[in-house]
Formats: sequence, structure tokens, C-alpha cells
Amino acid sequence: MDVIADPLSLLRLRTSEKWRTFGEDVLPLFVAEMDFPLAEPIKRALHEAIDRNDSGYVAEQNGFADAFAGFALGRWNWQVDPAHVTTTTDVSVAIVETLRQVIVPGDAVVINPPIYPPFFDLVPEAGGEVHEVPLVRSDTGWSLDLDGLEQAFADGARAYLLCNPHNPLGHPHSIEDLTAVALLAAQYDVTVISDEVHAPLTHTDGTFTPFLSVSPEAAEYGICVTAASKAWNLAGLKCAAIVTSSARMRAALDGLPEEVLWRTSILGLIAGTAAFTEGEPWLDGAISAIQSNRVLLADLLDAQLPGVGYDQPRASYLAWLDFRQLGWGEDPSVMALEQSKVALNPGPTFGAEGSGFVRLNFACSPEVLSEAISRLAAVM
Ligand SMILES: Cc1ncc(COP(=O)(O)O)c(C=O)c1O
Repeated sequence: MDVIADPLSLLRLRTSEKWRTFGEDVLPLFVAEMDFPLAEPIKRALHEAIDRNDSGYVAEQNGFADAFAGFALGRWNWQVDPAHVTTTTDVSVAIVETLRQVIVPGDAVVINPPIYPPFFDLVPEAGGEVHEVPLVRSDTGWSLDLDGLEQAFADGARAYLLCNPHNPLGHPHSIEDLTAVALLAAQYDVTVISDEVHAPLTHTDGTFTPFLSVSPEAAEYGICVTAASKAWNLAGLKCAAIVTSSARMRAALDGLPEEVLWRTSILGLIAGTAAFTEGEPWLDGAISAIQSNRVLLADLLDAQLPGVGYDQPRASYLAWLDFRQLGWGEDPSVMALEQSKVALNPGPTFGAEGSGFVRLNFACSPEVLSEAISRLAAVM
């Protein structure tokens, strides 16, 4: 199925953050929203819900868990027990609420910068203290610093907030790294909260491995938090899942307040259920458009901004761009906005490793992407 971004004339009618933060002179390639139209089955499910005035609280018995389990099995051969899927407002709430159950105030929680900026805030919101173990980059690409993780766990970290696939790198972690993490988690009794919200958007030449599926230790010490919100562009509808696969993790989450479930949006749940059951043809079309833009971006940079470093991602639609050779300063997004009228995410908000970098969202039309790179290149 072809998935084609809406034209700018339609996009500018949207009222979301991406389209209302800046004026019409700015091309917004920042926040992780996509410019594609919603998948038809999702639109239909939402229209039907409105037509039957179905806007109350979510029911405890609903189809979401079965829908997610069916998708996980078909897409990743991951066996999820629907009885062990619970929903909440969004992935950020899922992270904070699960962390609260597995740490006590002051406990260290490990994250891997450069990382999705809210991770720096979600950990203290849950009472934890951020312990940074940066990702490492070698000739073969990005990987987890397993020695650094072991040291952090040995030093007393109680939880590890993993991002798989990783935002902003679009890097699905290898099965070897994930298996090693699970062994370390078991050895040091560390809970691994694996944020897998970008996983459905793994490219055809990438391999996503659900953390809970890699080994008995991962099932024992892992909690997956995920949603349909990134892959089908439903962030504003508010519904995410918390998934466990062991008695140990279920017991750890026994204390989750009932309200965590009640705060799921019924429209988000209806949309997410439609996404996981009927949304795959659209998803595959979106991935195809994204992969084509991923290559277009490489070509545009080569031709117009050859000093910019860019490793093509293997998941999702975010590019982590290294502007350090161009001398645009610690935060190149400032110059991009002021001089090129292109809105990008500032690298330094992803951690100290992001100095001299920006994050660019290429889930847009090829025309918008080309125009954005031309505008950036014009500064040179
Ligand atoms: C890795 C990651 N986790 C969580 C979120 C936020 O998800 P939510 O809007 O469901 O809180 C995002 C949003 O882009 C993300 O990239």
C-alpha cells in the first residue's frame, strides 16, 4: 500500500505541536509526529466510536491486549500472554509508574545517552537518579557498553531504562547485546524497562528483537513498555501498554494503582486495537516511504552538506546528524531555525554526547525533506 505524506496545505491545518509551535515560514522537522494521513482502519474505528457516543472510561475487558499479542506473534514471533498486558495513558506514564514500583527514592536508574530527552526527566519524576552509560560507536556501528552497564549495576543501580530501537539513532539493539544485558540484570537483580515504542517501525533491513523474548533471564527481569502511538501516529490519543512475562515482574507490578489503567483514553485504546489488528498494510507502506526518505536524506546530504555525519537508521524516521565539522556550534538547531527556518531537535538535549548534533524527523514528503536540506545548505 502506498502511504503518501499530506501536502503542506493540509498539514498546516493540523493543531498538534509540530504544526502550531512555529509560523508558516518554518519547516517543522522536529517532534516525532509523522506527516502521513491516518491508516483507514484506524479512522474507521474512531469514526464508529464517535457515532456510537463511546467516550466513557476504558473497560477492564477490552480487545487491546489480544490485538497486541497477535501483532507481536505475527511480526516478531514473540509469544505474549494477553493476561499480562495492561494499558495506561502513554509510554511516559508507563515508564514512571513501573519505575515507581521497582525502585525506592534515590536509587540509580541507568540510561544510555544520546537518548530521547524526557528520559532525563522521567527517572527523577519516579524518584530515581539518572546514571548515564553512553552508547559506544565502533567501526561496526553502535552498541551498548556492556562493561559500563556491569559497573553501574555493580555500583547499585536498581533499574535500567533501555530504548529499543534506540531514539535518536534508530538502532535496534542486537540479540547478543540484549542477551548479555539480561544475564547482567539477573546477576545484579536489576529490573530492565524496555521502551519498544519505535519497534513496529523497524526497516526491512533491520532486525528488532523484543527484550522479553531473548532469554529466560530477560523474561524474568524485563518489563516492556510500548504503544501504537509512534508507528501509527496516535500520540495525542493516549494509550500505551505495559507487558510482563514472569511471575517476578507481575509481582513487582502488583502495587500499580488501579488508576494507572483508568487513565487510558478509550479512543486511544480503540485506535491502538485497530492499529495492531488491521494496521499492518499501512505500516508496511509507511516503512517503505520512510526507508526511501532515509536514502534520499543520505543523497541530499552528500550533494549539499557533505560535512554532515549521518548513519542511516534501521528503525523509525529520526536522523541523528553530526554538524561538528561545519562549525555550527554546540547546538546547530539554533542556526537551522534562525537562518534556514528549519526546526530540528537540539542535540544537547539528548545528553552531553549530543553537543554539535541535531535530530531531524524525515517522516514527511520527499519534497519537504529536499526543501529543508536546501534551506540548510543555503547557509553554507
Ligand atoms: C523512545 C520514546 N519513548 C517514549 C516516547 C513518548 O511516548 P508517549 O507519547 O506515549 O509518552 C517517545 C516519543 O517520541 C519516544 O521516542
